[in-house]
Amino acid sequence: MSMSIKFRSRENIPMEMHKVRMVQKVNLLPVDERVKSALEGGCNTFLLKNRDVFLDMLTDSGVNAMSQEQYAAMMNVDDAYAGSETFYRLERVIKEVFGTEYFLPTHQGRACENIICKTFVKPGQTVLMNYHFTTTKAHIEQNGGDVVEIVKREGLEVNSDLPFKGDMDIDLLKKEIAERGADKIAFVRVEAGTNLIGGQPVSVANMRETVKVAKEHGILTVFDASLLSDNLYFIKTREKEFANKSLNEITLELGKLFDITYFSARKLGCARGGGILMNREDLYLAMQALVPLYEGFLTYGGMSVREMEALAVGLLEGLDMNVIEQTPIFVKALCDELIKNNVPIVTPSGGLGCHVNAMAFCDHLPLEEYRSGALTAAFYIASGVRGMERGTLSESREADGSERFAEMELMRLAVPKRVFTLSQMKYVADRLTWLYENRHLIGGLRFTFEPKILRFFFGKLEPTSDWPQKLAAKFKADFGDSL
Ligand code: F0G
Repeated sequence: MSMSIKFRSRENIPMEMHKVRMVQKVNLLPVDERVKSALEGGCNTFLLKNRDVFLDMLTDSGVNAMSQEQYAAMMNVDDAYAGSETFYRLERVIKEVFGTEYFLPTHQGRACENIICKTFVKPGQTVLMNYHFTTTKAHIEQNGGDVVEIVKREGLEVNSDLPFKGDMDIDLLKKEIAERGADKIAFVRVEAGTNLIGGQPVSVANMRETVKVAKEHGILTVFDASLLSDNLYFIKTREKEFANKSLNEITLELGKLFDITYFSARKLGCARGGGILMNREDLYLAMQALVPLYEGFLTYGGMSVREMEALAVGLLEGLDMNVIEQTPIFVKALCDELIKNNVPIVTPSGGLGCHVNAMAFCDHLPLEEYRSGALTAAFYIASGVRGMERGTLSESREADGSERFAEMELMRLAVPKRVFTLSQMKYVADRLTWLYENRHLIGGLRFTFEPKILRFFFGKLEPTSDWPQKLAAKFKADFGDSL
């Protein structure tokens, strides 16, 4: 289902517009060993060893396939602490892609958030946004601020026809500003490809409206472009005004629209690093000193010269529809197969990965026993596939210690760019369908070690019964000696 290739059978088959010339062997452990690894890792897929993982769908962060042009560029660097030509090359590319005047390099996306929040969030202030990302919220709260989410109602509905489920509710935005007062709002943040609610895109029309309202009240606007690649694909394919615009034209408009744009280059640009971009010198100067303090000198910001070269090439390659469509069309192929098998997932399918609705999948479990955490552990046992919990475990507790239940309980199966094949996606759909048919065997989880900040990263849990062993026994009964 590439933009330009149709099959005689009219089947929607995602077509790889690249060939694979370097591979990494993967290993699929027998199911009993998967149970052992899951338990050793505290039923937390972040704590699995990658050698025990068959398909790593934890994230696309820093694990996208790079092109031969990116690898070649990594060999041709100017290595210097200060003023390297590599940095200026990257700076020129960013200007070409986003049209922005100023660029601050960082080691990754959350480092941009640290710098932006340290500079612009004052205690007692609020950041209004379509939806939070875990690290974003943590940085805002570390600086004494809080987050208010004003995504459109449909964004929080698991199934909807809205093509841009990440859009901001503009009436709510106006209401929040009127009620709080502009001086109590640190900034308005728009996240492209809203990560935690299913990789759902935001339309340019909505971004224009958001910025217009914020500007009328003199409020700073910040754009998180980490997931821009998928979002661009959806703008181009779903927003009529842009059907005939080039990806560069769209990106230039966005770069101009917001006061500050930042991104994780572990996602955007298929490299590793990050950057903060802006047109206003005063904003640049306000943040500049924090780069050498937390990241590195202004001409590398914690990135190696090799990564900067790979990023410069990757950002330009991201303006090619054949490159950026790869994730969304593979996500769609996986989602379509699951929909056909009645497995509950977030629709329409978005970018980033397939988002399984654990709220419905595990509706026999109490919310206190972490439905999406349990599903993610169970799916690893059933398949060797490593997904990520994106539900209550990814939230932090309320100040009084009570649980803050997530609005959506999801298991994310990320589809890193150009990494997996269609047969691997078919395997994922097959095992997930099997697990759905046996979902009553999935039991709950409870914490044995619970960190205070970003607990999902290294918190440890245990099953509330011997359900993992029972699930493995059913697997062996159904699949015999199959891995
Ligand atoms: N913003 C968004 C929308 C993100 O998805 C991420 C990272 C960040 C900021 C932070 O960037 O990891 O480079 O520090 N998302 C990764 C994920 C971790 O798995 O979705 P980072």
